Amino acid sequence: MARILTGIQATGTPHLGNILGALVPGLNLAADEHNEAFFFIANLHSLTALNDPDIVRHNTYSVAAAWLAFGLDTKKNTFYRQSDVPEVCELMWYLNCFTPFPMLANAHSFKDKSETAASVNAGLFTYPVLMAGDILLYDADQVPVGKDQRQHLEMTRDIAGSFNHQYGDVLVVPEGSYDERVMIVPGTDGRKMSKSYHNYINIFLEEKALKKQVMSIVTDSLPLEAPKDPDTCNVFALYKLLGSTDQVADMRAKYVAGGFGYGHAKTALLEILIETYAEQRAAYNSWMNDLGALDAELAIGAEKARLVGAETLGRVRGALGLD
Ligand code: ADP
Ligand code: TRP
Repeated sequence: MARILTGIQATGTPHLGNILGALVPGLNLAADEHNEAFFFIANLHSLTALNDPDIVRHNTYSVAAAWLAFGLDTKKNTFYRQSDVPEVCELMWYLNCFTPFPMLANAHSFKDKSETAASVNAGLFTYPVLMAGDILLYDADQVPVGKDQRQHLEMTRDIAGSFNHQYGDVLVVPEGSYDERVMIVPGTDGRKMSKSYHNYINIFLEEKALKKQVMSIVTDSLPLEAPKDPDTCNVFALYKLLGSTDQVADMRAKYVAGGFGYGHAKTALLEILIETYAEQRAAYNSWMNDLGALDAELAIGAEKARLVGAETLGRVRGALGLD
């Protein structure tokens, strides 16, 4: 039995990149009868970037609703808010003491964020240690995440390795799992799709708003009749992730032949987005209209998670001589 674990920050409604890069691969692993999964909403991590309580609360529900809309089985798996298990903060402190300062200072994500963030807080700096706490508290074996999180995962492995080197096999050293096909989903401007770049596609939007996002995808300005290169086009890059083999081959042929404009390609992408996610869109809206039901699911998950967390923390405290 392998234990799968992943988290999504409460920084906004999960977009197509989060869904294809983390949520769906995680759910696929969880569906395997040999696995059990821990999925959580990283609302503590989101405080490194957000300070409006209404927004933090809303985003937390939105991430939870997205997970449930994609069919997360909360009976088989453990589904919780990160902040409902405060044990993770205690573990983080212990792990801080095993984390070399230069490792954090050299993290890509810290360097990127500290260049653009309005204020660089210590939470942004120690972000990977809290993430290590999230993973190590639950003895996770496999962590499905997008490729951008690979370095954070390696840090978790290093921190756990140093701890175990000192105290014996106390922590489970996890493996990262990266969906090779999806890797990095491009956003509407061709950069990595990200909430922070405002270049995302929110599949839960109603048609008119979704259309606006799809129509904003950046393309070159070749005229309708010109043959086009599908492999450098942002619209095709997204279509490729959703269409069947035949649909993608058909679209590729149209690009190469010419007489097919980017407007046509965008309409085809919009249609496939609406169709592919119709069920999830309805389910998401229904959860968002019943926050009491979401709270109830999360409360059950928190209780299950705390039991496991307390056990690990007991082992760690004993190893450290804090018992
Ligand atoms: P964002 O960049 O939008 O703030 P998060 O950092 O909250 O996204 O990421 C949540 C999960 O989704 C992570 O596992 C991350 O690797 C994955 N992810 C985020 N953006 C993408 C993307 N464009 N392509 C693939 N996976 C992504
Ligand atoms: N840092 C991850 C992200 O931005 C979110 C996250 C927090 C996470 N804790 C985690 C992912 C633990 C996997 C495991 O995407």
